[in-house]
Amino acid sequence: MTDQNLTFRPGSDIENVVSFPVCAGSPASVVSFENMQPVPDGMPCNFSLNADGIYQLRPGEGDDLLPIRICSPLIVKGICSRPSGGGWGRVVAVEDPDGNWHELILDARDVSRKSAAALNVLFDNGLELAPVEKAAQSVTELLAAWRPGARYVRSDRLGWADTTFSAFTLGDHRVLGGARVITDAVSDDVAAAMHVKGTLEGWRAAVAEPCAGNPLMVLAVSHAFSGPLLSVLGRDGGGFHLRGVSSRGKSTLLGVAASVWGAPSFVQSWRGTDNGIEGIAAACNDSLLVLDELHQVEPRVAGDIVYMLANGRGKTRMSSNGKAQPTRRWSVSVLSSGELSLEEHMASGGCGMFAGQGIRLIDLAADVRPYGAFDCLHGEPDGRAFAERMQRAGRENYGVAGPAFVEKLLANVDRRDLFQRQIDGFCQSCLVAADIPPDGQVQRVLARFGIAALAGEMATKFGITGWGTGASFAAARELFLNWFEARDGVTRGEITAAVERTRNYVSQNLGRFALLGAEAGEPKPGSSCLGAEYQKIEQALPLEVPLKSFYDRLTLRNRGIAIGPVTVSCRPKCSFKPPSAQKRRGFSSPVLNGVGADYRSH
Ligand SMILES: Nc1ncnc2c1ncn2[C@@H]1O[C@H](COP(=O)(O)OP(=O)(O)OP(=O)(O)O)[C@@H](O)[C@H]1O
Ligand SMILES: [Mg+2]
Repeated sequence: MTDQNLTFRPGSDIENVVSFPVCAGSPASVVSFENMQPVPDGMPCNFSLNADGIYQLRPGEGDDLLPIRICSPLIVKGICSRPSGGGWGRVVAVEDPDGNWHELILDARDVSRKSAAALNVLFDNGLELAPVEKAAQSVTELLAAWRPGARYVRSDRLGWADTTFSAFTLGDHRVLGGARVITDAVSDDVAAAMHVKGTLEGWRAAVAEPCAGNPLMVLAVSHAFSGPLLSVLGRDGGGFHLRGVSSRGKSTLLGVAASVWGAPSFVQSWRGTDNGIEGIAAACNDSLLVLDELHQVEPRVAGDIVYMLANGRGKTRMSSNGKAQPTRRWSVSVLSSGELSLEEHMASGGCGMFAGQGIRLIDLAADVRPYGAFDCLHGEPDGRAFAERMQRAGRENYGVAGPAFVEKLLANVDRRDLFQRQIDGFCQSCLVAADIPPDGQVQRVLARFGIAALAGEMATKFGITGWGTGASFAAARELFLNWFEARDGVTRGEITAAVERTRNYVSQNLGRFALLGAEAGEPKPGSSCLGAEYQKIEQALPLEVPLKSFYDRLTLRNRGIAIGPVTVSCRPKCSFKPPSAQKRRGFSSPVLNGVGADYRSH
């Protein structure tokens, strides 16, 4: 034997090390003791791992065994199965030709059958066979015989590994917290985008700090942190849709928010949602799902997707044997953008939007700030320059803030009650500021702002954003009030004007109204009693709400015939479109026009 042809000595302290070229003409296989690897757990003793790959002991001359390089490096790290049972497989790490390691799952059925399926998965991830005889066969033998002791939980989504919130999986297979978890069957594109570039300090300085003073940006980034909190607080998914004309900074905002979790490619297009939404949602589970360009999805489909995303479960499907396959589940914060609102987009396809869709994907105007989507340009001369600066910052710094948030949250998950109290406090302060009586839909929207605000405040407290305390609450409050005012396209100013108009008309035309039930002994039309009641309500007025109780009882009368109650839409939300008094050609009396009220003289 020459130096170049050392015999492998099982049992010796260098049994996993070779120090010679394995086969002539294979320069890459020259190895040395410096490359010595620790023996991987459970590796069969006739194989060894070295820095340049896997070696197999094969019969040489006489009784000698020669280590022959069969493939590039790979390690079977553990055995995995789903928490519910089933889904058995091997967790394998493979090194690609660029020296990057990839972790993946090989299904047990593929491994034990020694089929090409297992090898193909490895090849896809960069495994290379050595140019020796029966290399493929040796690798399949190795996979089948390798018995590591480590056990992994196999999950079909990223995010929290279990309901005790002990560990959180990221797209690059990093697991924050203690548990061993391996994930499969999520969108590869999204998962691959979840990696790191730059440092937390870099992200804070270049991306987060210029968000200060920009409520939409602060809300978008705060909302990006809210994903991991949803499950912790037992909340449904959902989010915001940034709507506005072109080139005002919508996609820039999405990119900034996406940088919390990953690369710019973390932003998905609505176009891909038609078929791939379940895989995408599973990959964004417990983090952020960013969807750009709403118009690229069919209007009919958009509404269904909003429900599906927010409700957190995919379609039930049947397998070939007729059994229902497990339904995909997720919990995700959504951030979307488009030139139209969801309602407008759905209407363009002839579909009506349900209120529930607007609650789950809250419409925010992103082109009415002082500079398009921005309020403060941090020294840049115009909106365009600021947008481009933020886009650059997002390309250079990403993927660190979200995981840093989860690391801190892991140590605080038992403080749910405190989180909940903070959300409640935020909601209460908004209700008071907007002078809004409780309304189920408004409160659900408000709660969504509340979770985002809390997440942003927590990120600030954890030292991640560099914003001042209260910045996220203030941004969320301002945008909630904007949303509230813009609802149904009516502002508070318009409501007040409409109330005033109606009040004037009614007070000047009391003789034309009767209180409902007047026939049963209540005040007669134009009677002083009716006037007195009107006065009483007028004096107690300041809010619109008491008006309703009054107007609801009013009946417009004409020539003694009750035409019907004056339907004044004075709900405690911004949809007050009261009747207005008009003279119409051909009619002797004024007409009350308005939503739900068109009372004319006969
Ligand atoms: N607020 C702004 N003021 C002026 N120009 C802007 C503003 N925001 C963005 N831009 C310009 O528009 C470009 C595209 O920005 P961005 O993708 O954020 O726009 P968008 O609102 O998403 O537009 P679209 O609806 O067409 O997708 C930027 O690179 C910048 O040149
Ligand atoms: Mg855009």
